[in-house]
Amino acid sequence: MKTLVVSNQKGGVGKSAIVTQLAMYAVEKRNLRVLVIDSDQQGNSSKPLLKSGLVAAGKPFSEYLLNKGTTVPHADFVLLPGDPQLGKLEKNAAMHNTIATNFRHLLASVDNDFDLCIVDTNPFPDIRLTAALVSAQYVLSPIQLNQEAIDGIAKLRADIANVQATLNPKLKMIGLLPNLVLPTPFQKNNLRDLAQHFSNLLMKTPSGFAHVKERTAIAEAQSAGMPLYKIPKTSARDAYKELSEVFDHVLTAMEVK
Ligand SMILES: Nc1ncnc2c1ncn2[C@@H]1O[C@H](COP(=O)(O)OP(=O)(O)O)[C@@H](O)[C@H]1O
Ligand SMILES: [Mg+2]
Repeated sequence: MKTLVVSNQKGGVGKSAIVTQLAMYAVEKRNLRVLVIDSDQQGNSSKPLLKSGLVAAGKPFSEYLLNKGTTVPHADFVLLPGDPQLGKLEKNAAMHNTIATNFRHLLASVDNDFDLCIVDTNPFPDIRLTAALVSAQYVLSPIQLNQEAIDGIAKLRADIANVQATLNPKLKMIGLLPNLVLPTPFQKNNLRDLAQHFSNLLMKTPSGFAHVKERTAIAEAQSAGMPLYKIPKTSARDAYKELSEVFDHVLTAMEVK
């Protein structure tokens, strides 16, 4: 099993949308066995996945972090849903080591049951994110192309480098994924600047640097709890074409099955 953490300290950049759509794509189009872990108490990937009817739901994710040995359902597509308790773990400093150990134990215990584990994360760095980054092999960071986000990239890179140096030398940055990209000159320039300064952090796909445009079909798919490819609209087909190319790149980079 390969584990991907989808992380960025900013909210609203599309982490949960990427997690949800990648998971459904990997199961239905690539025939992979997928475990989704929603470590955000907002549950923004849990809601659409539960609505989709495609997943078997395990216990609320905080139970796995607090109790070693909480069992995972036997199925090819499983969700461990986000729950309100997750927001309280940071204050429970006495449990932090246990939480990190239990996360690692959970992943090890299902290593043969899934091909891919995708972890959705909360916007603020805390023990949940640290525990995920310590035990995962890959990280993907959706970003938006505004100045503030671009200014934050050096810090994001330093944070990942710090985890690699101290806690998990095996962690690989798959890359930054500009999302919600608008066809404005400002954003086009920002993407060009980004490519110049951080080209090694961007994913190169057959059609250039990977990015995902702002597409209402993606927001619609998320609120309907559906994969993009089941939304019967031309705009959804275009969005799917773009997104599936990005997903193929991510899965190839992770050497999933
Ligand atoms: N490429 C996109 N085009 C249009 N809407 C998007 C896109 N990516 C995400 N969204 C929508 O933007 C909102 C925020 O995305 P979300 O995945 O919840 O972000 P995060 O998990 O980073 O907080 C959601 O309503 C989501 O459906
Ligand atoms: Mg989210």
